[in-house]
Amino acid sequence: MSGEISLEVLVTPADRRAALERDVRVGLGAGDKVLPPVWFYDETGSRLFDEITRLPEYYPTRTEAGILRAHAADMVAASGADVLVELGSGTSEKTRLLLDAMTAAGSLRQVVLLDISEEVLVEGAAALRERYGVDVHAVVGDFRLHLEALAKGERRLWAFLGSTIGNFRPDERRRLLGELAGAMADDDHLLLGTDLVKEPERLVAAYDDERGVTAAFNRNVLAVLNRELGGDLVPERFVHRAVWDPVAEWIEMRLRSTACQVARLDRLGLEVAFEEGEEILTETSAKFRPAGVVAELATAGLREEVAWSDPDGDFRLGLSRRGSHAA
Ligand code: AVJ
Repeated sequence: MSGEISLEVLVTPADRRAALERDVRVGLGAGDKVLPPVWFYDETGSRLFDEITRLPEYYPTRTEAGILRAHAADMVAASGADVLVELGSGTSEKTRLLLDAMTAAGSLRQVVLLDISEEVLVEGAAALRERYGVDVHAVVGDFRLHLEALAKGERRLWAFLGSTIGNFRPDERRRLLGELAGAMADDDHLLLGTDLVKEPERLVAAYDDERGVTAAFNRNVLAVLNRELGGDLVPERFVHRAVWDPVAEWIEMRLRSTACQVARLDRLGLEVAFEEGEEILTETSAKFRPAGVVAELATAGLREEVAWSDPDGDFRLGLSRRGSHAA
């Protein structure tokens, strides 16, 4: 079997720990409590997210996969790419749909995976090398910081799937898309997956499922803090909430304290007091409108050339390249 794996580590475990400590000090130290969603994804959190993607209420993953199943060949042809760069996990069925299409087109030369978790990356890289016999360059990094480090030269298709972009606030999105545009070559394409605005009932159900998997996923961040920072937070004293903000057009996930309580985080020497009913904002998941996506891309210097959606208009995948005016 041909194909080699190269690993590049831009974020060490010590960097990660420092970032967690900073986020928790800032987020729980004073004022409105907030934790960035990146800390959900330890081993348990990643497994719970995987379970979420198969829930009947959580439509985004299967809808995006359906769009890819129907149109991956068109996407690959329109991009003319021979290198796939995947931002985030590279083991998913969705990645394989793109790689199958590149293989069928005879164009697949290399896969570049960028992920914050070395274990996820190494596993994903090995699986892709085995299946496709291609070179896989795996970069342990943060896509908010390390886009520049991703090798240049070929015609790349940058895949940013799952509506992960929705986890960022509008100002952060502007920065992120700007950096992405800056890292892209003129012949590169960006394939961006966005979850679209729809009836609030469906949105809330997708983030507050019957079986309580999303609740467990949300509460798991408390277990991460306990383990990493010597904490004594009691997950049972927090309830999961999913709230649709119709003005900002995003879902907020929160953990509400059911009691007046104080938790300690020994490694930070920090005590965190909660009023009864006080909430920690643990995730915002923005929902998009097609015109808004196109406008945000344009602001970043990216021009959307073509987009695909499912018949119900629940989810959207757009293909863009550098340039500011219509073709
Ligand atoms: C992985 C960020 C796209 O916002 O829908 C799923 C994460 N949170 N259920 C999303 C998530 C709760 C997911 N993203």
